[in-house]
Amino acid sequence: MPDLKLILEKIEPSPEEKERVHKLASELIRIINQEAHNQDIPAKAILVGSVAKGTRLAGKADVDIFITFPLSCSEDYLKVKGLELGHHCIEKMGSAYEERYASHPYVTGFIDGYLVDFVPCYKISSGSELKSAVDRTVLHTKYIKAHLKPVQRGEVLLLKRFMQVVGCYGSEFKVGGFPGYLAELLILNYGTFIRVLEAAAREWMPGYQVDLEGHGTAGFFQDPLVVVDPVDGKRNVAAALTMQKMADFVVAASHYLKNPSQDFFFKKKEEVDLDQLKKDFLSRGTVVLILTFPSPTIPEDALYPQITKTEQSLVNILKRAGFRLWGSDSACYQAQVFMILELEVHTLPHLKRHYGPQVWNRVHSESFQKKYQPHCWVEDDTWVALIPREHNTAQSLLKHVISPEGICHLRTGRHLKDQLLENYQLKPLTDFLEEKNLNPQVLIWLHHYLHRNEFSGDIY
Ligand code: UTP
Ligand code: MN
Repeated sequence: MPDLKLILEKIEPSPEEKERVHKLASELIRIINQEAHNQDIPAKAILVGSVAKGTRLAGKADVDIFITFPLSCSEDYLKVKGLELGHHCIEKMGSAYEERYASHPYVTGFIDGYLVDFVPCYKISSGSELKSAVDRTVLHTKYIKAHLKPVQRGEVLLLKRFMQVVGCYGSEFKVGGFPGYLAELLILNYGTFIRVLEAAAREWMPGYQVDLEGHGTAGFFQDPLVVVDPVDGKRNVAAALTMQKMADFVVAASHYLKNPSQDFFFKKKEEVDLDQLKKDFLSRGTVVLILTFPSPTIPEDALYPQITKTEQSLVNILKRAGFRLWGSDSACYQAQVFMILELEVHTLPHLKRHYGPQVWNRVHSESFQKKYQPHCWVEDDTWVALIPREHNTAQSLLKHVISPEGICHLRTGRHLKDQLLENYQLKPLTDFLEEKNLNPQVLIWLHHYLHRNEFSGDIY
């Protein structure tokens, strides 16, 4: 049984680190409020997110500063002035800014080793005044600060860290896991880290509901897990959690309770041996293809759904053509998209069976026979013909689908189509693994594809 107190000491920011972040945050807030004052802008910056709530893990270097405006301001004014104030502050700190877009534009800067988000929003006092999703964040911060007991901050850190190692922390599309605010609400609901694991391991089912403030709205959501937002009954905080990640968490929780180990907080470094990887793939006796193409420069949260959509569409096309899929996965590293497609066989017969009408349908039976004679016959009461298969290897089918003539059959993400058409490579895995300078992250990704163990987070 690992000593949770000792683990907490390692994952909690040191007092110096805490002080450093808070000092920086106060300085940034001061600069923004001063500039707002100088320009007569009715805006006020405040610290939100895990830094404000005291639930930030050591080494997690993101600071969330929200620039709040009165509800009387127009949305355009808020956007323009909010972003301007953010730019001003980042420049004043001697850093470069980068504009981003969530449901809402915001600006990010890398300041003194911290990634700082400046998000313009409305200052609201209840969920009913919401104008956009980001407005809730200020209420979340208030709610957690008011309800989370100081000792429970440590429980939140243990839970977040556990989720990170298991690979289910974060609501971004790439992960589809538990956002930090959800980890906090779970601790509020169950009390401690261990109790959250116990509930997950023993009670959670698809459709499981948590409703801390008794809004009574849980039944309106269709998601795998429903945790009604205490500050807004119309919102499920677990909306981004996929069934896969919920199930991964449940399994990891029950494994931990049976066999608690340090490994759930500090993952062992994975060494991938190229020869072993080749052997492992070979020993499956399957056909493995690797598709790669350059990724467009768009934010990850826009990129990942498009990659997943493309992968799913390729899988469906292969299946419809008669290929059996063992699995597939995709990832993006250093502006390159990688997709693995694992098939049972590479080549299908040159011919395929084509089903026609039932013999009772005299008119269609006639025309079917005319068209396919002498390569047709009746099975049971249905006409069958043998016709040529257009693409009898997976590679030729995929090449056709990723060509100007065939791409109309593929549902690609909007931003992926051009790069895919112009710059893709499709290779058997064995050839791919012969390439020089393979990115080690890609090898780890392939290793994970083969060994889907519970420690799938990219943290050590
Ligand atoms: P963060 O993702 O930065 O979360 O979003 P956090 O609580 O600060 O946790 P870490 O330590 O950085 O991982 C900032 C705020 O945005 C809101 C929450 O209020 C969160 O505190 N948010 C974010 C959501 O409501 N839902 C989400 O899916 C993501
Ligand atoms: Mn944060």
